Amino acid sequence: MNKYSYDPCAYEKRYRKVYEEGAEFWEEPLPTESLVRFLHDFHLTKGLRAVDMGCGEGRDSIFLAQEEVYVTAIDVSRSAVKRAKKWSKREGLPIEFLVADVTHLPIRNYTYDLAINVACLHMMINQQVRDRHLREAHRILKHNGVYFSCNIGADEPISANEFYKKIGRKPRKPDSAKN
Ligand SMILES: C[S@@+](CC[C@H](N)C(=O)[O-])C[C@H]1O[C@@H](n2cnc3c(N)ncnc32)[C@H](O)[C@@H]1O
Repeated sequence: MNKYSYDPCAYEKRYRKVYEEGAEFWEEPLPTESLVRFLHDFHLTKGLRAVDMGCGEGRDSIFLAQEEVYVTAIDVSRSAVKRAKKWSKREGLPIEFLVADVTHLPIRNYTYDLAINVACLHMMINQQVRDRHLREAHRILKHNGVYFSCNIGADEPISANEFYKKIGRKPRKPDSAKN
């Protein structure tokens, strides 16, 4: 049993405080370095759709949109989304923003090629909440979709097979393996 409780709105209070004290952004407005490297190696095709889960003030959504990826940016904090929206407008980038909880996503199944989670998953200190989020991410990804995570890791990382067992699903076979 975890002695801490997970409050998805904790950040909303902190963002508000930071803005009230006059800061324009809380985070450094630079993309996540490992995401930049990852995208460089990723097979980028035209029309790629990505979702940034726990986008905060939008630094990675902005980066992806600049790389011509269609981005949906989601965060439970209204204040952070407002900042991110303003920034994307200034850059002239057509990002779709949603104020929503990444454990209950108002998104259809099999929508995205890429789902990223930067520094949001590790905030979910409750295992059931983490599992719910991962099930949601799995649901909205297309076949062969990719989940990119940049978070503080667990003491004992689990294998992909263990992960599927945990969420009660079987790994999808690549399309070509069906024939
Ligand atoms: C450390 S910040 C990282 C923000 C951004 N990804 C970045 O790297 O700049 C974590 C973000 O996750 C968001 N968050 C936490 N739990 C969430 C949830 N259940 N659903 C949506 N967003 C959540 C917070 O509001 C916060 O903006």
